[in-house]
Amino acid sequence: MTLPDDFTWGVATSAYQIEGAWDEDGKGESIWDRFAHEGRIGDTGDVACDHYHRLEEDLDLLADLGVDAYRFSIAWTRVLPDGRGPVNPPGLAFYDRLVDGLLERGIEPVPTLYHWDLPQALQDEGGWERRGIADDFAAYAEGVAGHFAGRVRRWLTLNEPWVASYIGHLYGVFAPGLTSWQSALAAGHHQLLAHGRAVAAMRRVDPAARIGLALDCRYAVPASDDPADIDATRHFDGFRNRWFFDPVFGKGYPSDMLEAFADRLPDGLVVDGDLDEIAAPIDFLGLNYYTSIRIDPEHREQEFAEAEPGPSPAPGHTEMGWRIDPGGLTAFLRRVQEEWGPAEIMITENGASYGDAPDEAGRIRDQRRIDYIAAHVAAVEAARADGVPVTGYFVWSFMDNLEWAAGFAQRFGLVWVDQATQERIPKDSFGWYRELIS
Ligand code: FCB
Repeated sequence: MTLPDDFTWGVATSAYQIEGAWDEDGKGESIWDRFAHEGRIGDTGDVACDHYHRLEEDLDLLADLGVDAYRFSIAWTRVLPDGRGPVNPPGLAFYDRLVDGLLERGIEPVPTLYHWDLPQALQDEGGWERRGIADDFAAYAEGVAGHFAGRVRRWLTLNEPWVASYIGHLYGVFAPGLTSWQSALAAGHHQLLAHGRAVAAMRRVDPAARIGLALDCRYAVPASDDPADIDATRHFDGFRNRWFFDPVFGKGYPSDMLEAFADRLPDGLVVDGDLDEIAAPIDFLGLNYYTSIRIDPEHREQEFAEAEPGPSPAPGHTEMGWRIDPGGLTAFLRRVQEEWGPAEIMITENGASYGDAPDEAGRIRDQRRIDYIAAHVAAVEAARADGVPVTGYFVWSFMDNLEWAAGFAQRFGLVWVDQATQERIPKDSFGWYRELIS
């Protein structure tokens, strides 16, 4: 192991996926509450892992795991039930208990301000399609950052704006379930603008904060050496990766994609000065990496799995149907370094879905998850050996939880959660990761 002693080892979760208590203590409705209650995902996060009521137990489990840091998200609707206006003190108090409980246990809190659970009240005004939402987000970010100044050192503004934009506004598979290019492009741009304004606002109230965002990526390779596949891959990469990475790192939107999207971009979407705001310098990049993808012309603007999700994954795939490709992580990290050059990178999510259940003795032998994580940690080491400044790695996820549209069927946790009893059982991977860290 060549990773340095000060490397940050962590695990990650998000509010809607674990908290439950969806309408308790003054919490407002989010777009995911609405989406789930409309029956769009088969399950709901009403109870999820009941983390809201089991905070102490879960904090003790984190301490037992020995992580340096814990990445979680703050539900905007707990703090500001309608997205703006008066703070809901009991909602904020929950995150006080979480942050203080982590600090007492020597674990660094790494909150994400937006992990997809937009206040429904803001959706009713147009959600991410409305330009003014950037100011609402910045005000929320400023309030929360000011409140936690001195206790939280490291923040993430957005989680995976590509996913929130496209899976939520073009494919209609995630909340708010919209299906148009205009919506997706507007949602993406306004999220980036919200990020940039939030960074500026947070720096005003906490100059010492280290601020970044978590970008997802797909390492894309041509399906063959046919020039049409190579062309399609360049296009897919523009649509999936460059469209978000380029503006965040001050390069503006990629010109080939501006051309390709010309007749789909809503009129007047990008206003003078927006790109400067979006390029507000960040202190570190959060990178979420799971898989790579092979592209042909049919899939130049489409996420596709080469294998169907399910309990018997195709060889080389996880149960999400995602191809296992640790080499893609090394390659993508090298590219991030060359093309965008962030001063610091943290892998803010990486992990695998496998449903391995307790055996007769109650033990969960999830060797496949251990193999997946080990291979990806090695991929990080390889990138570091090439000089890529990766300083941390967070496993997705601390515990099995509500995997969005896939409901509770997909299990990513180091800890097994029994949905009926809420019993938590550390899996073999939990013990393995603890060893690795120590
Ligand atoms: C990422 C999400 C995270 C989780 C993993 C599996 O896209 O950020 O919440 O669902 O995928």
